[in-house]
Amino acid sequence: MPTPSPSVTVRVPAKVNVQLAVGPPRPDGFHDLANVFLAVGLHDHVTATLTSPAGPAAPGPAAPGVTVTCTGPGSEHVPLDRSNLAVRAAELLAARHGIEPAVRLDIVKDIPVAGGMAGGSADAAGALLACDTLWGTATPRAELLRLCAELGSDVPFSLVGGAALGRGRGERLTALAVSGPFHWVFALADGGLSTPEVYRECDRLRGDRPVTAPEPDPALLEALRTGDAPALAAALANDLQPAAVSLRPSLAATLAAGMAAGALGGLVSGSGPSCAFLAADAGSAAKITKSLADSGTCRAARATTAPAPGATTIESYA
Ligand code: C5P
Repeated sequence: MPTPSPSVTVRVPAKVNVQLAVGPPRPDGFHDLANVFLAVGLHDHVTATLTSPAGPAAPGPAAPGVTVTCTGPGSEHVPLDRSNLAVRAAELLAARHGIEPAVRLDIVKDIPVAGGMAGGSADAAGALLACDTLWGTATPRAELLRLCAELGSDVPFSLVGGAALGRGRGERLTALAVSGPFHWVFALADGGLSTPEVYRECDRLRGDRPVTAPEPDPALLEALRTGDAPALAAALANDLQPAAVSLRPSLAATLAAGMAAGALGGLVSGSGPSCAFLAADAGSAAKITKSLADSGTCRAARATTAPAPGATTIESYA
């Protein structure tokens, strides 16, 4: 029996932005945000396996560098080169520690691809944590968070999970008190929306109108803290929603279908095109899921709960 190569598997959650307040464009092209993230129980899994010097677990020569595979719904749209954020995460961590990366990343997707649910960011956070454990680099948490922020605005939140307020471009996090469970239903769309395009469309729709500095809504933070689903539903707000609907007008019908099925509230998730609906309880979530699936306004519907923990090592074989 050949000895299996050392490997580490990390589970990472999707997110929904329960409030996404977007300021005007900054000189660097980003937008200042008040971004209230909530991690939800849809997960990707990232397994990092040493390919050298212990030898590859899969056929092929042991070689330095980062290789990646991806399976699961929509995985055919995930790039397998350096444009994959998980590959960049492994390379960044190795560079920070002055080591040669020699790892294969196997990503199993369940978070909708390009769905506005931070799937790519989740994979980057997962790869970072998995490689840090695999390589024994023991990077302090604060440094891991800095590396996450270098990789993308949503990556730090994928590492920490729970609920958090993101300021700056979304990467400067403050943990938020959150009760639960909150019951969510996600309507998944065919194809993705490009985040930069949605931000551009948001700017275009705003035109010359003055835009106020983004601030978190105290009523929304209180609803999260107390686990008050009707109050959270009333406070849900996404400044990117008009832009996402403008680029994908069919989302208006999806949002209407979720509300008609009995959701307490609904909104486009992040930059879309997934739509998120808050339900009163598990029974109502099941009914909304079925209605949405039968409505013909989305590709599929999934029920889940929040909050979910951040990136978590679930298997380590070293
Ligand atoms: O940080 P990330 O790589 O996820 O951002 C993707 C794109 O989304 C950016 O290039 C930018 O166009 C847009 N963005 C933005 N303001 C933010 C976050 C993202 O304009 N706060």
